[in-house]
Amino acid sequence: MSVPAQVLSEDGGILIEGLRKVYGQGDTAVEALKNINMHVRPGEVVGLVGPSGSGKSTLLKCLGAIIEPTSGRMQLNSDVIYDDGWKVKDLRALRRDRIGFVFQAPYLIPFLNVTDNVALLPMLAGVPNAEARRRALEILQALDVGHRAQAQPSQLSGGEQQRVSIARALVNRPPVILADEPTAPLDSERALSVMRILNRMARQAQTAIIVVTHDEKIIPTFKRIYQIRDGRTHEVAGQGIEVE
Ligand SMILES: Nc1ncnc2c1ncn2[C@@H]1O[C@H](COP(=O)(O)OP(=O)(O)OP(=O)(O)O)[C@@H](O)[C@H]1O
Ligand SMILES: [Mg+2]
Repeated sequence: MSVPAQVLSEDGGILIEGLRKVYGQGDTAVEALKNINMHVRPGEVVGLVGPSGSGKSTLLKCLGAIIEPTSGRMQLNSDVIYDDGWKVKDLRALRRDRIGFVFQAPYLIPFLNVTDNVALLPMLAGVPNAEARRRALEILQALDVGHRAQAQPSQLSGGEQQRVSIARALVNRPPVILADEPTAPLDSERALSVMRILNRMARQAQTAIIVVTHDEKIIPTFKRIYQIRDGRTHEVAGQGIEVE
């Protein structure tokens, strides 16, 4: 039985309160997150920055239900998903239907072509194959890799693979997108074009988006940025330069 979820905030998006994560136990324990507090509204793209080892990937993995936090609270849209323990029974369904991930490495499926790598998620969600492939092609074209739709992942450049993995994160139009260094392998123009697509997606579909980055090319595009230092979040204003 799952406990009825108590709503912390009515206005949706992502809400994190007092999140803590300790890896391991005893002498070897690492307290990666000490006290994380964030709110990302629907339609907002926020940056998450911090030194190497400060806990950025750990935070995205907790929020994406890939690893379990130690304590605290997390809310996605109007549902509390974690409150000192998971509040949703089916974490796989949560990951599949409600969260789009873009990882540091693209993790494409090597034996599927580019279109099917992207179409797989809508297919798993029950969309007929032809419609899933049509949606996949549309998003691949928007990301400027439509011409590689029939290629195998191993035949793509690093930047192309990364754009395919971004297409895969966007194709189901999840209410939340979590991106870990999505523009690292891209040149300046393509990095900004990824930010343009994420901002458009946020505005049109009211998606809440967190982008972990060190990339100086895209940092000026954020209106709000959270810094992690010593396991704690600090909010700072960004420049919010328009990418449209
Ligand atoms: N599976 C794990 N077991 C134990 N410690 C871990 C594990 N994963 C991460 N850590 C530790 O937790 C801390 C935060 O790591 P994390 O990967 O979240 O940092 P990061 O901010 O994403 O760094 P980077 O910018 O280098 O990607 C680091 O001290 C790291 O060594
Ligand atoms: Mg990381």
